[in-house]
Amino acid sequence: MQGKTLLISGGTRGIGKAIVYAFAEQGANVAFTYNSKDEVANEIVADVESKYGIKARAYKLNILEPEEYKEVYKAFDEDFDRLDYFISNAIISGRAVVGGFGPFMRLKPKGLNNIYIATVDAFVVGAQEAAKRMEKIGGGSIISMSSTGNLVYTPNYAGHGTNKAAVEAMVRYAAAELGEKGIRVNAVSGGPIDTDALRAFPNYEEVKSEVVRRSPLSRMGEAQDLTGACLFLCSNASSWLTGQTIVIDGGTTFQ
Ligand SMILES: NC(=O)c1ccc[n+]([C@@H]2O[C@H](COP(=O)([O-])OP(=O)(O)OC[C@H]3O[C@@H](n4cnc5c(N)ncnc54)[C@H](OP(=O)(O)O)[C@@H]3O)[C@@H](O)[C@H]2O)c1
Repeated sequence: MQGKTLLISGGTRGIGKAIVYAFAEQGANVAFTYNSKDEVANEIVADVESKYGIKARAYKLNILEPEEYKEVYKAFDEDFDRLDYFISNAIISGRAVVGGFGPFMRLKPKGLNNIYIATVDAFVVGAQEAAKRMEKIGGGSIISMSSTGNLVYTPNYAGHGTNKAAVEAMVRYAAAELGEKGIRVNAVSGGPIDTDALRAFPNYEEVKSEVVRRSPLSRMGEAQDLTGACLFLCSNASSWLTGQTIVIDGGTTFQ
């Protein structure tokens, strides 16, 4: 991946951070966004640059304001001369998901709409801007992170689960229309992965032991478990693969 560039949203923690490191290790330059943790972002930039000898940059972005992507890309264009891969990964939590994260009878339009903005709208705006740049170099690969919470009942997860189903459908539409530009669009759907997002679940311990029980591999997913599929989808090994969702769930969806 030397000389290629990745832009990913939410690169400071969990799955996004693991992806930043995995691509940098393969020699790709990495640009990532963060929400609030400037210091953490700067530390990651310095660390991957010194470890892997690539160029890294971080940009502030609030995915609840997807139009901010335009400013991010403006700054990106000043730092990098090409974009090969875009991964829509960041997700909101805490106060922003109140009314969206909870049992069905407590769901409220505001919380649900916030999750839609962060999941679907942010993917659309980020991918549109990515496609404009990829078209100039003859193609690229776009990925949305998704989760098996849209396939398997997960307590309190209705808001996220329905919006992950929506973004997977949006991925198929984008794939259908961007293929002629040489751009492939896919989703990577993870089963429960041990990150801050999952640790924020009120029933985290219960979810964790249930995942370990259900998985034939008898363990919880780790952030690094989703990086291989992203590398594959950005390589020529997947050159006829578009409009799909790859499920990486430790076998939990079938159990
Ligand atoms: N964990 C799971 O079980 C699991 C399973 C399958 C798929 N996924 C998906 O994988 C993706 C990453 O999940 P994760 O578990 O790694 O999440 P996480 O650990 O909670 O990390 C979230 C990332 O998003 C950023 N972020 C938070 N609020 C934001 C906002 N308002 N605007 C912009 N960025 C914001 C954070 O930046 P700061 O550090 O600056 O706050 C952080 O980099 C999500 O799409 C998630 O749905 C997760």
